[in-house]
Amino acid sequence: MQATNVVILAAGNGSRMKSDLPKVLHQVAGRAMVDWVVAAVAPLKPNKILTVTGVGAKQVQDHLAGKSDFVVQEQQLGTGHAVLQTKQALADNEGATLILSGDTPLFTTETLQALLDEHARTKNAVTVLTAFAENPTGYGRIVRGEDEMVLKIVEEKDASVTERRIQEINTGVYIFDNQLLFEALSQVGNDNVQAEYYLPDTLDILREMGQQIGAYQTMDFSESMGVNDRVALAAANKIMRTRINRGHMQNGVELIDPDNTYIDAGVQIGKDTVIEGNVTLKGKTVIGQDNVLTAGTRIEDSTIGDENVITSSHLEEALVENQTTIGPYAHLRPLAEIKDRAHLGNFVEVKKATVGLGSKVGHLSYVGNATLGADVNVGAGTIFVNYDGVNKFDTTVGDRVFIGSNTKIIAPVTLADESITAAGSTITDDVDFHQMGIARSRQTNKDDFWDRMPHKKG
Ligand code: UD1
Ligand code: CA
Repeated sequence: MQATNVVILAAGNGSRMKSDLPKVLHQVAGRAMVDWVVAAVAPLKPNKILTVTGVGAKQVQDHLAGKSDFVVQEQQLGTGHAVLQTKQALADNEGATLILSGDTPLFTTETLQALLDEHARTKNAVTVLTAFAENPTGYGRIVRGEDEMVLKIVEEKDASVTERRIQEINTGVYIFDNQLLFEALSQVGNDNVQAEYYLPDTLDILREMGQQIGAYQTMDFSESMGVNDRVALAAANKIMRTRINRGHMQNGVELIDPDNTYIDAGVQIGKDTVIEGNVTLKGKTVIGQDNVLTAGTRIEDSTIGDENVITSSHLEEALVENQTTIGPYAHLRPLAEIKDRAHLGNFVEVKKATVGLGSKVGHLSYVGNATLGADVNVGAGTIFVNYDGVNKFDTTVGDRVFIGSNTKIIAPVTLADESITAAGSTITDDVDFHQMGIARSRQTNKDDFWDRMPHKKG
């Protein structure tokens, strides 16, 4: 059974989030909530995905461009009113319509497929996906008759004391016969506590019309979580990260403390890589095999090869080859490229620069706008002075260059292969093959100075 069309409700203002960002664009494990919904329905191969937008319509539409068609709900008068906005687009359709909310990011395709199968089997006019909730607060409740048949859905705000005790909740996912959906919607009123047109009211209406309605209860309540506020957002993130981390562990990645490891959806990690707690891996990050990432490491949009040891460091848009050692407390910024077996030590910042094969930048250095060849040794405290306040300038360092500690390299400058700079130099001119550049004022020693020191004065 195939869902003919999918409608995603994403027009609400999400006022409980207290945010300037439209609710459905808030992220769960690095992806907007509505993206998760689209990803879950895509394998069902719907004819059309139609997203109802309203608050922040342009932002949501730009975000989903190419993945969905859109209708706009100008005023947010309720979920039933939202679906009514798709009437023009869907009215002619004879098939089924699957409806979901953009704020329920945790549903799996398997669960949705099971709902579709149940709907096809029973030939209901509508089948609602329900779940059993330990704590049903905030959800619509499924009211069943004495024969256990579904009678209606009642919103918490409209529920009687008895109804509030019901623990079977409406997940907000439904599959309807499309024609009957719009017939029922035209009869939905707004005579309720919130004065809204409720989509769930269509169940009662269809039943009254003599149609067969039904529910399919999924076993796993955690998939049904609706994110209405930041508390639920954090809870949804936790559930999603648990899922993601379990997947990596099953693929041979060793997570020392999976409850405190934050890996975005889509990050790739090779086997036998060991990741300590409090590591964050974000965006389009790809990590190879046999690496060690220690606590406090944060890597975003970077590519890491194999057998590296990255210790409590931050990497953004960086490329690290193999067998390097990085950190503690190194900072790789965009376009940092670290070649095989290189070493970056503590408090080293690299930006738009290549550190060549086996080269070492051990301590307290800034390497910016530079290309370093192989087996270069950069002494402690070296600064590549690349910026005059207006423009950036490049430095080229050849192979086997030895840069003395506390060298300032004022770009643009070229240090040829096997050249040397003397410690403490401020290098402004090129240094040729086998030359040493020394640029510092000579030391003078003053006699009998001790007694002139202020602290020696009585
Ligand atoms: C809704 C259901 C509730 C269910 C819960 C599951 C209704 C009336 N209630 O409640 O039974 O248990 O979801 O998570 O449907 N939206 C619009 N236009 C509107 C109003 C809402 O597009 O005018 C969208 C929202 O952006 C959201 C979705 O519909 O994505 C659900 O709306 P929300 O206000 O979050 O409904 P709940 O109170 O969670
Ligand atoms: Ca909701």
